[in-house]
Amino acid sequence: MGSGLGSVTKTDIIDLFYNVYGYKEGVSVYFAPGRVNLIGEHTDYNGGHVFPCALTIGTYAAVSLRNDDTVRLYSENVSRVGIVKTNLDECTSLRAPGWCAYPAGIMWTLESRGFKMNRGIDILYYGDIPAGAGLSSSASIEVLTAYMISDLFGFGISNVDIARIGQYSENNYNGMNCGIMDQFASAMGKKDNAIFLDTATLEYEYAPVELDDKKIVIMNTNKKHSLCDSEYNTRRRECEKAVEDIKSGINIETLGELNEEQFEEYKCLIKDSVCVRRARHAVYENRRTINAVEALKAGDMRLFGKLMKESHVSLRDDYEVSCKELDILVEETEKLDGVYGVRMTGGGFGGCCVSIIEDAHVDAVIERVGRAYKKRVGYDADFYVVSIGDGVRRL
Ligand code: GLA
Repeated sequence: MGSGLGSVTKTDIIDLFYNVYGYKEGVSVYFAPGRVNLIGEHTDYNGGHVFPCALTIGTYAAVSLRNDDTVRLYSENVSRVGIVKTNLDECTSLRAPGWCAYPAGIMWTLESRGFKMNRGIDILYYGDIPAGAGLSSSASIEVLTAYMISDLFGFGISNVDIARIGQYSENNYNGMNCGIMDQFASAMGKKDNAIFLDTATLEYEYAPVELDDKKIVIMNTNKKHSLCDSEYNTRRRECEKAVEDIKSGINIETLGELNEEQFEEYKCLIKDSVCVRRARHAVYENRRTINAVEALKAGDMRLFGKLMKESHVSLRDDYEVSCKELDILVEETEKLDGVYGVRMTGGGFGGCCVSIIEDAHVDAVIERVGRAYKKRVGYDADFYVVSIGDGVRRL
C-alpha cells in the first residue's frame, strides 16, 4: 500500500481483496471521495446554498459478482470483525456490525425503488479518509455502494439520483436526517472545482478553485463528532419550528427562501429565542455562501476568508454546533501570518476545520497550531494539505 493520504492504487485494493477472499479474477475497483465544505454549513436541509468540494481521499471498494445468492462484506478498516456473510434476502436488513448499516441501507433503498440485485456479491471496502471526522466517510460508502451496484447490474442510475439514494438511505435507514450536500459532493465532485449547489432545486454550478499560491489545509481535532446525530436532528427541528412560526406572516416553506431583510422583519414571529438564533444562522449563512462564491469568482480571497470567519462565529454562537477543540484550532490559526480563512466544516461537535493558507506559510502554521493545540487540549490534532478531486467512479 502506498504511504500517505491519497496514494492508494487500484492494485493495492485488488491485493487486499485477494488476501480476504482468495481470488481476484473478475474483480472491479471503484472509488468515492469524501468532501470538505468550504462554506454554507447547516444550510442544505434549510433549502439554502452550499459550496463543498470532493477530495482525493475517500473510500475504495473491490467487488465481484457471484453465481449464488451469498452476499459477503468486509471492511479493511475494521478488519477485526472479519467477513460478514449474508444473502440477497437478508442483506437489506443488516444492522451489525455498525459499519454494515451503510451498504445495507443502500441495498434496501435500491430494492425499494425496484433495483433488486439478482446475484450475490463479494465486496471489500477500504477508506483512506479518517472516519467520524466530518469529512463524509459515511456518505462516501453510500455513494460508492449505490454507484457500483448500479454499474455492475446495469441499473443506469444517474449520479444525481445516486446522491438522492444515499441521502434517503442515511435518513431512513440510519436515522440521521442529513441534507444532500455530502452525497452530492461525493457523487458529483469535479477536480479542482467546488460545487455551488442550490439545495432547494438541486441546480448546481462548478466553480474553479484556483488557489495559485495557496493551499486548502484540513485540521482534524481528533475529537469524534459523536453527539452529532442527535444534536443535528434537534437543530433541524428547531429550524422547522422557526419556519412554522414565520409562516403566519410570510408564505415560505424553508428558511432558504428568506433574505436578511425579510428575516429581520419577520423574526419577531418566532416564539422561541433559541429558534430565532438557529434561523438567523441559516438565513445569513446562505447569503454568505452566495457572496463567497462571488468573491472567489472575482479572485478576492481576502473577502472569501472573511466570510469563512463569519461563518465560524455564527456556527459557534447562533447555531451552537462548534466545540472547544474546533474553536481552539480557529483561534490559534487565524492569528498567524498567511492565513486567509479558517472555520469549522461539516456537522460540527468535533471533526475538522478547513483553512486556506498561503503556500509559504503552510508548514509554519501547521507546526505552531499543532503545538498550541496539544498544549491546550492535551492530545494532537492532524493536518492534511488536500487537493480537490473527481466524484465517484470506476478505476
Ligand atoms: C453533515 C450533513 C450535511 C450537512 C452538514 C452541515 O455533514 O450530512 O447534510 O447538513 O452536516 O452543513
